[in-house]
Amino acid sequence: MTKTALITGASSGIGKEFARYHASKGGDVILTARREDALKELKAELEDKQGITAHVFPADLASADGPSDLVERIDAAGLTVGILINNAGFGGQGAHVDRDLEDEHAMIDLNVKALVTLTHSFATRMAAQGGGRILNVGSTAGFAPGPNQAVYFATKAFVNSFSQAIDQEMRDKGVTCTVLAPGYVETEFADRANLNGTKLVSSGGATARDVAKHGYDAMRRGELVTVNDPKVSFMMNWVMPMLPRRTVLKMVGEMQKKSA
Ligand SMILES: NC(=O)c1ccc[n+]([C@@H]2O[C@H](COP(=O)([O-])OP(=O)(O)OC[C@H]3O[C@@H](n4cnc5c(N)ncnc54)[C@H](OP(=O)(O)O)[C@@H]3O)[C@@H](O)[C@H]2O)c1
Repeated sequence: MTKTALITGASSGIGKEFARYHASKGGDVILTARREDALKELKAELEDKQGITAHVFPADLASADGPSDLVERIDAAGLTVGILINNAGFGGQGAHVDRDLEDEHAMIDLNVKALVTLTHSFATRMAAQGGGRILNVGSTAGFAPGPNQAVYFATKAFVNSFSQAIDQEMRDKGVTCTVLAPGYVETEFADRANLNGTKLVSSGGATARDVAKHGYDAMRRGELVTVNDPKVSFMMNWVMPMLPRRTVLKMVGEMQKKSA
């Protein structure tokens, strides 16, 4: 039997595609995000087309108690999470000092704190259940500092680092932790992050469907870090580490800058 997957950020983009892909394999899903209507629409689609059960738990995971309340609600419903996909996240274009500090903090609360709370809670439960799989959505942004998106890049560096350490700590308890590090993906992300007009966005990106499938399959194999595009993977792992730090900072800063 395919295990139940908890998917955060399931109301759009990559998260929605994770839900569709997991359901196509016969697995039940627990869908969470803030937009309840979008989650209910996805629930109806998946139950109708795939015959699985979808549970909807709307939550603001950037709020102080959002992540722990979600865990309590899942426990109270008697659900067992076999797969955790920490996907919810957002970015924000602009120099750090020009950006709204509250938005920068919310980004850390969602991209980092919520992911840590859910990993802590469900890794513990998975180990007690005899095993489980965690897929954390990091980013290629996590491989270098990111001028003009400084906090976002730093949150993803945290995800990339944290996920690998968790895998090492939990592997002998039957719990694996994979980090998916995509390059640019065409979703609502660019609008939300105010990235339209940057080189990053104008050069086009992967589809959410391909990226979700890539990450999900890597998670099932228990891989440690996976980048969906082999060319980007080569660049991140072999070219970038050889370049001088200042060169990397300028290159990344240019990609995230709006054209005048
Ligand atoms: N698109 C890219 O280029 C790209 C590249 C690398 C990595 N990523 C990562 O991929 C993940 C998914 O992003 P995406 O591209 O699919 O973007 P997206 O379409 O904007 O989806 C983001 C998801 O996160 C949810 N979310 C945002 N704020 C939330 C909050 N406070 N509480 C709960 N849920 C919240 C959103 O739902 P609600 O608004 O309904 O709450 C939505 O479902 C993110 O972690 C992102 O950093 C994206």
